[in-house]
Amino acid sequence: MADLLKVAVPKGRIVKHISRLFHQAGIPIPEDLDETRKFIIPAHDLGLEFIIAKPADVPTYVEYGVADIGVVGKDVLMEENRNVYELLDLGIAKCRFSVIGLPDWEPVLNPRVASKFPNVASQYFRENGQQVEVIKLNGNVELAPLIGLADRIVDLVETGNTIRENGLVEMEKIADITSRLIANRVSYRMKNEAIQQLCDRLQQVLA
Ligand code: PRP
Repeated sequence: MADLLKVAVPKGRIVKHISRLFHQAGIPIPEDLDETRKFIIPAHDLGLEFIIAKPADVPTYVEYGVADIGVVGKDVLMEENRNVYELLDLGIAKCRFSVIGLPDWEPVLNPRVASKFPNVASQYFRENGQQVEVIKLNGNVELAPLIGLADRIVDLVETGNTIRENGLVEMEKIADITSRLIANRVSYRMKNEAIQQLCDRLQQVLA
């Protein structure tokens, strides 16, 4: 049992992608990961134990070593900036970080930018030499320009339905986003064989 791998996985839409990918890699993880209210799901016959986390908490669990590895979006990694190894681009849950606004938006001095990702937004505008005030929101960010809270937003775009339905336009792409496999730095050394084996199996599917 020494090499039991604790895997932090996020709840939500991404679980189906993770399940499919692991199944293709010959790792039949429990199908009901996104249905149960249990937060720890053992799969000891596979040498695994799943920890169900809020997406933004996955890198925290992995950095502190309570999970050896985790699956998390690059968006969260960019925002959280945790001290973890990024092992694999899983190529799932594809979307992009974009600057979004109303079509008739006009530049103003020190515009307000709303986002669930204040660090990503601040860094992007800083690197582009634009001074902005970033307002942190926790969801439904597309509302902000519609009700006059912000001039622009930085958010994820997947199908584009949310911005279209709210009459907004994508102005600049910041980065392409996919899910990544990450590892705790100590676990990566101590449980290297088990982690490497899992990576190899996933990589074969990805190739
Ligand atoms: C995400 C994101 C956008 C939407 C984009 O929100 O913040 O609002 O999905 O997807 P689309 O381009 O396919 O429409 P989420 O569904 O996670 O909800 P939230 O805004 O409440 O966080």
